[in-house]
Amino acid sequence: EKVILAYSGGLDTSVILKWLSNKGFDVIAYVANVGQNEDFAAIEKKAFATGASKVYIEDLRKELVTDYVFPAMKANTIYEGTYMLGTSLARPIIAKRQIEIAKKEGTVYVAHGATGKGNDQVRFEFGYYMNMPEVKIISPWKDPEWLSQFEGRSDMIAYAEKYGIPIKASTKKPYSEDENLIHISHEAGILENPANRCPEDVYSLTVSPKNAPDEETLLTFTFKDGIPLSVKNENDGTEVTDPLEMILYLNKVGHDNAIGRVDMVENRFIGIKSRGVYETPGCEILWKAHHNLEGITMDKEVMHLRDGLTPKYAELIYNGYWFAPEFNMLTAAFEQSQKQVTGTSKVVLYKGNVTFAGVTSPCSLYNEELGSMDKAGGYQPVDCKGFININAIRLMASSSRN
Ligand code: ARG
Ligand code: SIN
Repeated sequence: EKVILAYSGGLDTSVILKWLSNKGFDVIAYVANVGQNEDFAAIEKKAFATGASKVYIEDLRKELVTDYVFPAMKANTIYEGTYMLGTSLARPIIAKRQIEIAKKEGTVYVAHGATGKGNDQVRFEFGYYMNMPEVKIISPWKDPEWLSQFEGRSDMIAYAEKYGIPIKASTKKPYSEDENLIHISHEAGILENPANRCPEDVYSLTVSPKNAPDEETLLTFTFKDGIPLSVKNENDGTEVTDPLEMILYLNKVGHDNAIGRVDMVENRFIGIKSRGVYETPGCEILWKAHHNLEGITMDKEVMHLRDGLTPKYAELIYNGYWFAPEFNMLTAAFEQSQKQVTGTSKVVLYKGNVTFAGVTSPCSLYNEELGSMDKAGGYQPVDCKGFININAIRLMASSSRN
């Protein structure tokens, strides 16, 4: 039987590859390029050397930006007020492509290396089921046969040595990391104790605010119906319009200006609390620039309804429901909310901060005369007497009753 294994080139998925092949599977290694900093040619070579019969290296970056990052941005999506969902957003696209490959190869078997304690197992497996209901999933970290053979890292290293699987000299940091074009996550190791401050050397996508330049960087974005069309660096004139290039560029200027570091204890879907450190330089800038433009272009009630649904959307994404019916329903509503979020938005980057630097729009709802402290602008202040009196009726009633 053929099995499509989501393969990263690391120790876990390399041992899984060999283990599946020793069990008699014809293992096809699938490597998703979601923007992680990796040598894909080396991973391909290693997959063949470890026993893969075929290797797919799939560049999913553009689709990740246009079909996953942009919809999340339209909802200002953020989990538990802090986490920008960098890993959560990439799992569904990885799962979807894996199923497409399974269909192409004519098999229903897929495998992944996520642990049995985390969110990623749920996101992968929901993603598989929602794209191929008849799928058969091999998840070694939930498989009694595997678990009786491998308790942890040392058993895997021994297995790798026995079968001549090259192990990278462990210069790697003792953290669990997941990187893509949205973010990098750091978990485990010394971070597991939430009393510990995160050491500076954990960070890899951003400089420390202490080392960021003493000069402001001014960026001008243009948006059409909630989609970013361009970003221009006013300091040096660089302009980017392609969606993928834009995120890569924002990651670069975000890196240099120490943007997008967060450190939190979050609630996993399965109920375990977990400490995570994230760096999301580009998307932090994009989210803010977009949100600032909503200030002048979005109707008040649309905004308040949308903002009320944002935590639900974040929870659905975090919990792996990207392809679920309720998710599609919310996506349609957020899409509608973005009509006329059009115009320019300027932001300033400075030592870890992204600040508002002006917005303009041909579809602005902002009325400078009405908003002014110095002009009446056609507004009748006496009307407000009745407005307040009527709205105070129930407030007075409950006060009297008490
Ligand atoms: N805690 C984050 C999340 O659930 C990051 C998970 C990182 N995954 C990993 N395999 N290192 O989305
Ligand atoms: C894992 O358990 O595989 C990584 C962490 C997570 O999925 O939450």
